[in-house]
Amino acid sequence: MKKQLCALSLLLILFNAKGIEQSTTSSRYTTNPKITIIGVGYVGLVSGAGLAELGNQVMCTDIDTKKIEMLNTGTIPIYEPGLKEIVDHNVATGRLSFTTNVLQALDAADVIFICVGTPMADNGAADLSYIQSTVEMIARALKSYKVIVTKSTVPTGTGAWIRSLLQAKGIDGASFDVVSNPEFLREGTAVKDFLAPDRIVIGAESERAFEIMNKVYEKMIERDVPLIRTNLVASETIKYASNAFLAIKLSYINEIANLCDETGADAKAVAQGMGLDKRINPYFLNPGPGFGGSCFPKDSRALLYMAQLKGIDLHTVNASLIANETQKKKPFEKLVKILGEDLSNKTIAILGLAFKANTDDIRCSPSITTIELLLKHGAKIQAYDPAANETMRHVFPDITYCRSAYQAAKGTDAIIIMTEWEEFKYLDLAKIGTLTKSRILIDTRNILPINEFKKHNYTFDVIGRRCLSCH
Ligand code: UGA
Repeated sequence: MKKQLCALSLLLILFNAKGIEQSTTSSRYTTNPKITIIGVGYVGLVSGAGLAELGNQVMCTDIDTKKIEMLNTGTIPIYEPGLKEIVDHNVATGRLSFTTNVLQALDAADVIFICVGTPMADNGAADLSYIQSTVEMIARALKSYKVIVTKSTVPTGTGAWIRSLLQAKGIDGASFDVVSNPEFLREGTAVKDFLAPDRIVIGAESERAFEIMNKVYEKMIERDVPLIRTNLVASETIKYASNAFLAIKLSYINEIANLCDETGADAKAVAQGMGLDKRINPYFLNPGPGFGGSCFPKDSRALLYMAQLKGIDLHTVNASLIANETQKKKPFEKLVKILGEDLSNKTIAILGLAFKANTDDIRCSPSITTIELLLKHGAKIQAYDPAANETMRHVFPDITYCRSAYQAAKGTDAIIIMTEWEEFKYLDLAKIGTLTKSRILIDTRNILPINEFKKHNYTFDVIGRRCLSCH
């Protein structure tokens, strides 16, 4: 964690240094537009702090007054490495503030970023009710020209729908512009992703809106961060198409790893060999227990739903979701191969509950599927996650939560590593083995060296690396 924060500070220093060096602007706007962020969830808070770091004046608001009160006392309501530092820094400079007065915050803004949730509805579509109520609030506050930006992931056509909602309320179409500026933040590295993005995507329908958005991102544009200027629908589509593509890539490598399990090929070597082809690239090729989180499963389903409405079958997207459901059962299936189906007298240690490392988010986490299957087969669970014990307690109040990996392993029949937390990479296999009843370990993230399992006489399984020569 310390290492990560150091890297982040360095990034901030480099970033600021560069921002001061280069102060030319191609925009006719000379002052930075005032920004209001609606919704201080993970997207809103990271974006608000990041936009302030770029030199903008940012006010964040939320209908959840508790969150705003927490922020006003210096408490960050979510777990995200580096976020507190960047929030504190920008509050201290006076560029970032939080208010419960939503209407006042809207009134003061030149640019309004909508960062509210777009959860999945029962039919797989994105539920836009929070967007709708936000737009209705904006309609009440709209007295002068504003740029209204969707930062949340919204289906293609939402920008046009927002425009029609406002116009239906009698608002003159010339008094606002709607812009799509999707976020590409990963939980756990969101601050870094905001400050050093691969690209900025801006979808708009007027030159005025583009110019104002250019000013908002001026410091990044000066650093030559690639900028995609396109129309609203293309920008909205870029976000979904990117997430669904990454989900397909993961399902693909997971299936190849399953094949490796049977053939004896080393999935790590296979991924490396594939990834050196520049057309494939080495990222997102780590096989695991299936993808989770709030984005890939939800966005892939929403994209499928959107396409179906237009009469288009996205077979690849559908297949990646099916493959992922199968993959999420792998950790359990691998355990059953070792211990058998009757787990009624067995206790299993689950190391890692979050859907990935460096977050306390458990939404769609593969750990949930694994724990459900284990409980269904009579097992008892001792779980440990460095950040997500409390969030998981809401889902499984009756399993045992532990304070360390070693405490979780004590007296268990097997250990399953579900999340690639840094601290699990350094597990003392000699020590933890003596704590368990029988040295059985399933590493679903391939984070531990296979030769160490062999050295310490473990019965083990991994994903796609059952080969004898693996190390
Ligand atoms: C994802 C995208 O990566 C972001 O670009 C996007 O902005 C975000 O969704 C969003 O739409 O808000 P996130 O869900 O935070 O970000 O997490 P990722 O790091 O992308 O991981 C997703 C899942 O894939 C996790 O379960 C992770 O463990 C898994 N994964 C990732 C693998 O199994 N193997 C890999 O090589 C990479």
